[in-house]
Amino acid sequence: MSGNITFTMIKPDAVKAGHIGNILAKINGAGFQIIAMKYTKLSAEKAGEFYAVHKERPFYGELVEFMSSGPIVAAVLKKENAVADFRELIGATNPAEAKEGTIRALYATSIGENAVHGADSDENARIEASFHFAGTEMFE
Ligand code: CMP
Repeated sequence: MSGNITFTMIKPDAVKAGHIGNILAKINGAGFQIIAMKYTKLSAEKAGEFYAVHKERPFYGELVEFMSSGPIVAAVLKKENAVADFRELIGATNPAEAKEGTIRALYATSIGENAVHGADSDENARIEASFHFAGTEMFE
């Protein structure tokens, strides 16, 4: 695969607020190619597994409950420097600290309900992409 991939989820808050279309337009406008995508809902068990690295954090229970509270959009994105460029596009985890024009500054309401997820490394992007998609569900 030429170029790098990253993994994203449009979280339940942004889906519920009707921001799927606007967020996908920002993603395409920033030059990312969507190579896999699904509209789905995580069970509490699956959300817990996805965020297992945060198991010891005080917000883990809240995070799992929120991420399984409604449908999400999961997607794999391709672009040169995908992980870093996508984190730039979405802005800081806490929307109060996110730069103007970033997806979180535009659509997130709090650090917990922050509209989108973005993988934090190439390795995690691959792990998270394969958590949600089989190889046969990714198309370049
Ligand atoms: P995300 O990029 O999906 O990765 C882990 C998530 O944990 C993060 O976005 C936040 O939504 C959530 N998170 C991080 N810090 C806190 C916090 N202090 N309180 C609640 N949720 C948090």
